Amino acid sequence: TRPLKVALLGCGVVGSEVARIMTTHADDLAARIGAPVELAGIAVRRPDRVRRGVPAELITTDATALVKRGDIDVVVEVIGGIEPVRTLITTAFEHGASVVSANKALLAADGATLHAAAAEHGVDLYYEAAVAGAIPLIRPLRESLAGDKVNRVLGIVNGTTNFILDRMDSTGAGYSEALDEATALGYAEADPTADVEGFDAAAKAAILAGIAFHTRVTIGDVHREGLTEVTAADIASAQQMGCTVKLLAICERSANGQSVTARVHPAMIPLTHPLASVREAYNAVFVEADAAGQLMFYGPGAGGAPTASAVLGDLVAACRNKLANTTGVGESAYTQLPVSPMGEV
Ligand code: HSE
Repeated sequence: TRPLKVALLGCGVVGSEVARIMTTHADDLAARIGAPVELAGIAVRRPDRVRRGVPAELITTDATALVKRGDIDVVVEVIGGIEPVRTLITTAFEHGASVVSANKALLAADGATLHAAAAEHGVDLYYEAAVAGAIPLIRPLRESLAGDKVNRVLGIVNGTTNFILDRMDSTGAGYSEALDEATALGYAEADPTADVEGFDAAAKAAILAGIAFHTRVTIGDVHREGLTEVTAADIASAQQMGCTVKLLAICERSANGQSVTARVHPAMIPLTHPLASVREAYNAVFVEADAAGQLMFYGPGAGGAPTASAVLGDLVAACRNKLANTTGVGESAYTQLPVSPMGEV
């Protein structure tokens, strides 16, 4: 069988883990896929920053030329952000490559266009790594639960803010003190705005709502409140009521099933709820479906290796489909439901 060729766009914390695992697990991946997988090129912005163990001869700064080569089966995109990534991904589709992406911002802004472009060119678009790192969510919601009816998704999908709230809850610290600790431990970025203002969770809520309800939801549809206003006193009064505070992404189908809502805000959760036990920077997503009942998915929502795990699972799926000359998911067909930010009364 011919080897499948993979182009990697981005070689930071996640990309270098993807390259490493593709090398160290090459035999297992070939066995799972049914053909060897070959890393054909790695596009980076700063070649001087490429990590140890990444094959130097594969490095290029010309991502456009790499996706235009014409012999690439799957492009793995772990750069992030909207442009130039959107153009690179659509160029990859035009040249017959399937795409595996970890890009929550792009998928939450313009997933519908990308799905349509993939369908037009008969290739796949997978993005398990875009929501909650290693935790399998997209595939379970899209495939395992495809015959069920998901009514509600409640997610702790941002590790930084869960860490901050957990510290406030367990030590009585104020917000700034807990944020400083999150920064010192490397959870929060130097600029933590996307996390603490809820933008990161809102992007993930949009993606989850779209997949769970088989419609399209963009980040602009998501009502968003961050946790910067949560005080030590709020946490203490939640505790007195037998609750804890979590920043939740809440995606709901309306009672009549004709519209959906997606929102992100701090919420009090009873200590008896499974989401209350999610500590530190872990993520968890609680799903309520008609037939399945209640499910919870739990695990590390960020980090190089956990995110690479999700990317590699998608890579295996995309490669299998390439070999079989098929595509995995007919996501271009969906019903557009009205999306309201706050739901119905
Ligand atoms: N900043 C994100 C978090 C990383 O804290 O969860 C994963 O998207």
